[in-house]
Amino acid sequence: MKIKVINGPNLNLLGLREPDHYGNNTYDDLTKLCYEEAKQLGIDLEIVQSNHEGAIVDEIQKCLGSCNGIIINPAAYTHTSIAILDALKAVNLPAVEVHISDVDSREEFRKISYAKLGCIATVKGEGIEGYGKGLRILKTAIDNEAVV
Ligand code: DQA
Repeated sequence: MKIKVINGPNLNLLGLREPDHYGNNTYDDLTKLCYEEAKQLGIDLEIVQSNHEGAIVDEIQKCLGSCNGIIINPAAYTHTSIAILDALKAVNLPAVEVHISDVDSREEFRKISYAKLGCIATVKGEGIEGYGKGLRILKTAIDNEAVV
């Protein structure tokens, strides 16, 4: 099973940026956690990060024929990007949206998620551990899909 984790703008600055919202873990900590969880679950994992909307759309499109599912934290593009939503719908792969912070308890504009409409589940407010949970949810969904 191959899964791609796609991270959006400014997530590469984890550990430095707004620790009150995102904690002190670095982006390296995040990738390490994901690779460890994937190893335990027997998942072949690829992780990408981009600060550019079009590059994120490209990464989603590249999953066609090469990945079984997607973990996506579109970061600020969550709340603005119909292009990312359309890409998720276009590839029609199971996707789980992850947010480190609890987007629903912050500013009003963070309560809107376009990406959510293209995802089977959302994990939010659980710090970087939310990525581990996202991977488990996605693996279960893909396993169940394969049985049907
Ligand atoms: C975020 C939440 C977004 O609102 C914000 O723009 C981010 C990170 C999160 O992981 O909590 O950059 O997606």
